[in-house]
Amino acid sequence: MNSQFLSWFPLFSILVILEISVLIRIPSCSSNPDVFYETCGTAFSCGNISGIGYPFRGTGSPEYCGYPGLVLNCNQDNITLIESMGMAYRVLGIDQTIQFMRIAREDLMESRCPQDLVNTTLDYTLFDYASTNYMNVTFIFGCPVSTNFPGLSNLTCGSNGYSSAYLLPGAQGPGSCNVSVVVPAPLIQADLGGTLNTTSLDQIVQEGFQVKWKVDGKACSDCTASSGLCGYNLSTNQSTCYCSKPPYMSNTCLATAAGPSGSSGTRSFVMKMWLSLAWFPARGP
Ligand SMILES: *[C@@H]1O[C@H](CO)[C@@H](O)[C@H](O)[C@H]1NC(C)=O
Ligand SMILES: *[C@@H]1O[C@H](CO)[C@@H](O)[C@H](O)[C@H]1NC(C)=O
Ligand SMILES: *[C@@H]1O[C@H](CO)[C@@H](O)[C@H](O)[C@H]1NC(C)=O
Ligand SMILES: *[C@@H]1O[C@H](CO)[C@@H](O)[C@H](O)[C@H]1NC(C)=O
Ligand SMILES: *[C@@H]1O[C@H](CO)[C@@H](O)[C@H](O)[C@H]1NC(C)=O
Ligand SMILES: *[C@@H]1O[C@H](CO)[C@@H](O)[C@H](O)[C@H]1NC(C)=O
Ligand SMILES: *[C@@H]1O[C@H](CO)[C@@H](O)[C@H](O)[C@H]1NC(C)=O
Ligand SMILES: *[C@@H]1O[C@H](CO)[C@@H](O)[C@H](O)[C@H]1NC(C)=O
Ligand SMILES: *[C@@H]1O[C@H](CO)[C@@H](O)[C@H](O)[C@H]1NC(C)=O
Repeated sequence: MNSQFLSWFPLFSILVILEISVLIRIPSCSSNPDVFYETCGTAFSCGNISGIGYPFRGTGSPEYCGYPGLVLNCNQDNITLIESMGMAYRVLGIDQTIQFMRIAREDLMESRCPQDLVNTTLDYTLFDYASTNYMNVTFIFGCPVSTNFPGLSNLTCGSNGYSSAYLLPGAQGPGSCNVSVVVPAPLIQADLGGTLNTTSLDQIVQEGFQVKWKVDGKACSDCTASSGLCGYNLSTNQSTCYCSKPPYMSNTCLATAAGPSGSSGTRSFVMKMWLSLAWFPARGP
């Protein structure tokens, strides 16, 4: 009887090894749903910005962890950048509870004048201005030498092809000058006489402007309240919820919490082991 069992032992070992190799292979394969929860669990932190989760993801996280277009990049100086409509913005602050983000054009943070001679255009599919508490300001380049805008900032510019720029309140066309670039800025109050202190305009543009992201936070709050992690389903183009236990993907993870413990992989492994043991005596002569 003993020798009978031992003669089958190598086959049994092979079965066990096969089972183990199957179990080990699963977590490294990104198309399996149980890795979503684990791989999306790292919040984005960089410099002054920390603990940012869905709908944002860091550039190092897989696409299914974040909403398209809300990708944060941490540069070598620990500055957080986001790209939108082909323009790089510096992220100055993020408040996930009210879905607000303060951003400024990166080309304007590195220089007193915009380096990219294009207007600032928001991607309205993703963002809105967070409030009416902002104003447009316009940089005007390449004005005829005779031009004089009394009282306006006359900035010295760097490497954008123009040596200087005027800074005007409001969204303005270039008029007799070569090009104008419109940039949002925090609203500054006019004095009692109704005039803006335009010489301080160049100081406020680097404070950036607030935008509100439009991605619906409701589905996500149900998910996180059930200990899930929000993610993005790239085939349905919708937010989804990743759970640490089966079924791994769901609208919420509540059913999971009440469900049986232990992964289905482990259970099927134990069951197959039991079956292969029960099978041996039946094969005896
Ligand atoms: C972090 O915030 C401080 C104070 O607001 C600021 O001086 C500093 O430049 C910021 N650092 C980065 C990397 O943005
Ligand atoms: C960026 O942040 C990391 C972690 O806080 C720190 O170790 C590193 O020195 C910072 N780098 C710079 C250039 O500030
Ligand atoms: C700023 O300018 C844009 C167009 O360039 C316009 O759509 C927007 O309403 C302006 N905002 C304010 C507060 O004037
Ligand atoms: C403005 O544009 C005109 C025509 O393209 C050009 O001749 C002129 O040099 C430009 N002015 C400046 C200051 O670059
Ligand atoms: C503005 O600055 C430029 C360069 O610094 C200078 O050539 C120009 O005369 C200034 N314009 C006025 C009106 O002060
Ligand atoms: C920016 O917008 C203004 C109108 O608000 C327009 O006159 C100007 O030509 C635009 N500038 C560029 C570089 O497209
Ligand atoms: C305009 O703002 C600048 C910089 O904030 C300040 O030095 C100046 O006194 C202000 N001028 C007026 C008339 O308020
Ligand atoms: C995306 O949704 C489809 C259809 O509902 C589903 O079959 C798939 O498993 C989902 N994938 C992820 C990563 O959520
Ligand atoms: C999802 O988005 C991609 C890229 O924008 C698009 O090609 C695809 O048709 C979309 N799928 C659905 C189901 O909306």
